[in-house]
Amino acid sequence: MLMSRSSRASSSKPKAVAVRTPAAKRAPASGPSARALPDRFFRHLVLNLRNGVLAIARDGRIAAMNEVAYRVLGLTPNEGDLGRPYAEVLQGCPEVVRVLQSAFDTSELPNRAELRLRKTGRAIGYTISKIFDDDQAEVGLTLFFKDLTRVEQLEERERLRDRLATLGEMAAAIAHEVKNPLASIEVMAGMLRRQLTDRPDAMETLGDIIKESKMANAIVVEVLEFVRPIRLQVEPLEVAEAARDAIQGLDHGAAQVRLQVDDGVPELMADPHQLRQLFTNLLTNAIEAIGPGEPVDVRISYVAEEAEPASAGPPPPAQVRIEVRDHGPGISEDDLERIFSPFFTTKPQGTGLGLSIVRKVVDAHDGIIDATSAPGRGTTFRVTLPVVPAPAYLKESNHGTHPRR
Ligand SMILES: Nc1ncnc2c1ncn2[C@@H]1O[C@H](COP(=O)(O)OP(=O)(O)OP(=O)(O)O)[C@@H](O)[C@H]1O
Ligand SMILES: [Mg+2]
Repeated sequence: MLMSRSSRASSSKPKAVAVRTPAAKRAPASGPSARALPDRFFRHLVLNLRNGVLAIARDGRIAAMNEVAYRVLGLTPNEGDLGRPYAEVLQGCPEVVRVLQSAFDTSELPNRAELRLRKTGRAIGYTISKIFDDDQAEVGLTLFFKDLTRVEQLEERERLRDRLATLGEMAAAIAHEVKNPLASIEVMAGMLRRQLTDRPDAMETLGDIIKESKMANAIVVEVLEFVRPIRLQVEPLEVAEAARDAIQGLDHGAAQVRLQVDDGVPELMADPHQLRQLFTNLLTNAIEAIGPGEPVDVRISYVAEEAEPASAGPPPPAQVRIEVRDHGPGISEDDLERIFSPFFTTKPQGTGLGLSIVRKVVDAHDGIIDATSAPGRGTTFRVTLPVVPAPAYLKESNHGTHPRR
């Protein structure tokens, strides 16, 4: 499957694997306070770090691996992991195996590096250190790491915000300048048509001119609406209500939409009008992508706040998750990169603003959207919205949204 964006850590909580290290039998570390502490303390210290920690002995066997490490790497802990070769335990993460392998082979270790896990798409920031014993002999190495996915998402949203602000200002200026000449063309063509009632060919051409300028004007109006800043009108809202409203309002295809709402989904502080717009645009796309009678699945679920976040950056809050899934033709990898860009469309009559508006609605609510798709395998849009948005978003959003259709 192709993903435009990766998902967050799963909430399952693997058990930590205890450290069984030769250090327990060695002389305690030097220094007055270290001497006063039992080895048990250091074991707990390692296992309770909020970073992923992986310690490997010189012979390549796992000496310690904490719970966060399992969670971030997307692995399930097994009782027998301790003492097994790291390449076996980490075989689901070949990128990590490669990094560890080269760390064993080199004396120059990077201070801080990043890698992306292919399996989950998560970005990881890590540091590798060698472990030396009291005689300065190399006895192993440790990998400390954090999930950077959320930091990346926040950075990307900032970038998009800047891009849209610039693009918006430019588009608003152009649209404003084009609007008046377009209106003049329409008026003048109308006047001319009234003077040429005896020339049916000229009247037909003028009719076409009027029709085209009306269409161009409609696009200009749409662009202006699109870039206009709005103030969100938030209120406690059941997301399912917004979904039902949107489904009822669909011109056609409402019968194809199957809505599943999980138990215990809380109300959100959100703008009902904008959320309905979000559903309308996603459902319209799905219905346009599938054949007649084929289903579109909408699921609304709850993602509780992560008790012990393994990610760098602020912990993700409790969220409501919306998934819109179709079994249509899917989206190619190239197109998937561009679907959220304003005016990107593959449809003859499309404007290419539907998903840009969805994205702005999500952004204004401090949420995240990603799309998963591959040709022939359908498409899933997944939106996660925080139950309580950041106060800044209650004040003013720079990104306009507007009702469509
Ligand atoms: N569910 C889907 N299945 C396949 N392709 C999709 C789907 N949703 C979006 N796309 C692709 O993303 C493009 C952009 O979608 P978007 O809604 O922004 O614009 P549009 O549907 O083309 O035009 P409109 O402005 O009328 O919505 C579409 O043209 C299509 O190629
Ligand atoms: Mg659309």
